[in-house]
Amino acid sequence: MKNLPPLRTLNEYLVQRDIAYEAFMRTSSDYTATKTLDELREKEYSRLDKTGQVYLDYTGGGIYADSQLEELMVLLKNGNFGNPHSNNPTSLASKQMDEYARTFVLEFFHASPDEYVVVFTQNASGAIKLVGESYPFGPDSRYLLTFDNHNAVNGIREFARAKGANITYVPIAAPDLCIDDVHLQNQLSTPNPKGNNLFVFPAQSNFSGVQHSLEWIEKAHAYGWDVLLDAAAFVPTNLLDLRLYHPEFVPISFYKMFGFPTGVGCLIAKKSALQKLHRPWFSGGTIEVASVQGDKYLFAEGAQAFEDGTTNYLILPAIEIGLNHLKSIGISMIHRRISLLTRWLLNNLLALRHSNEAPSVEVYGPQTIEQRGGTIALNFHDPTGEIYDFHLIEQSAGTFNISLRTGCFCNPGAGEIAFGLTKKDMTECFDHEERRSFERCIIAVKGKTAGAVRVSLGLVTNFSDVYCFLQFAKTFIDKPNV
Ligand SMILES: Cc1ncc(COP(=O)(O)O)c(C=O)c1O
Repeated sequence: MKNLPPLRTLNEYLVQRDIAYEAFMRTSSDYTATKTLDELREKEYSRLDKTGQVYLDYTGGGIYADSQLEELMVLLKNGNFGNPHSNNPTSLASKQMDEYARTFVLEFFHASPDEYVVVFTQNASGAIKLVGESYPFGPDSRYLLTFDNHNAVNGIREFARAKGANITYVPIAAPDLCIDDVHLQNQLSTPNPKGNNLFVFPAQSNFSGVQHSLEWIEKAHAYGWDVLLDAAAFVPTNLLDLRLYHPEFVPISFYKMFGFPTGVGCLIAKKSALQKLHRPWFSGGTIEVASVQGDKYLFAEGAQAFEDGTTNYLILPAIEIGLNHLKSIGISMIHRRISLLTRWLLNNLLALRHSNEAPSVEVYGPQTIEQRGGTIALNFHDPTGEIYDFHLIEQSAGTFNISLRTGCFCNPGAGEIAFGLTKKDMTECFDHEERRSFERCIIAVKGKTAGAVRVSLGLVTNFSDVYCFLQFAKTFIDKPNV
């Protein structure tokens, strides 16, 4: 650790941390059952502790184990792999790796190969865009989405709008930032019977960590909606079991699950739902046949029609390696550990007070571990209740080697509700000729910036990490806000 939050000496810091750990263990006895993750961190992720990094941005990106890199290198060094679009020996070797990777993804999520296929994309956004640009929206269609969504999901509305579909946002309510159930139920019960209807929500919010009920999937199906479940922030620490839930589309980014590789994600799609999509173009790799003079083309069947050009075939085995790594640990163990650490951090942050008893931290989203994952969005308040600028927090965290995220995390809907920004505020933002960032808009309307600090726990988070963040949070107690 570069600097030590408020305690003066390393020794004092470690003694206090051990006392806090013992107290934590008294209320979290299950934590012992997750000890293998400490051993794993030491063996496979030692660079974190060697360099004194406190990594708390797992919703931004996961961290990779040394062995993931080594396994891939061994495989590539010992094989000969060509472009999978041919049928020569090296091409067949690549095709085989590609098939293994797809099979592995389906197995990991317990998705039946009779029901689902895997389309490889660049990331979750790429998977979401595939659906958005190809979904058969029309004037008789509806696009229904929650306020709480990543911008890639918000972006689908532009495809829907261009095709004349009705677009409806379902609100979330402060302070918990959960979906307004009555409102959603009302909207779901009124699909447009003449057209196609698409409903999208995140399994876990990348803003607040709220876990929205997966029961909405079947409720939506009962009224005839197609469902895209954005699982990008959920799957790194929760099991998504596609035997229990059957959304039409599930976008994922693999680097969020196991750190490496970046640049590959997927769309897990129901075969029946893929058939409903109409891609707006074709390219090499996506077609059975295309003709210049005949001015026609036929798409290839299944996933292939959705993968433009050559896939990232040398990297695909890293997906199997990464998923195997998670499988060997057990996603339920990761989930258990993250819940316990999140509960401890949340309770301790909420208990922080200035000398005048004013709360030092405001948490956006659920204030307990119920209905949430390991992502906590918060702001620090000074003794008068004013918020410390999140830029300052980020900068200050950096001096302690703490990696966290600030801003609104590409989720403007959740941010607008959390910060109490109204439709009028946001409309005014765009009523200027000058181009403004979200931040400058808010400053113009509110006279001050709006954003939050996000800490997100993941695969190898340990007690020392959350303890360090709590000590960092304490540095803002009674601190003048200048
Ligand atoms: C819920 C959610 N959806 C989609 C995305 C987009 O992921 P990517 O940037 O990897 O495309 C993110 C990224 O943080 C996310 O958290």
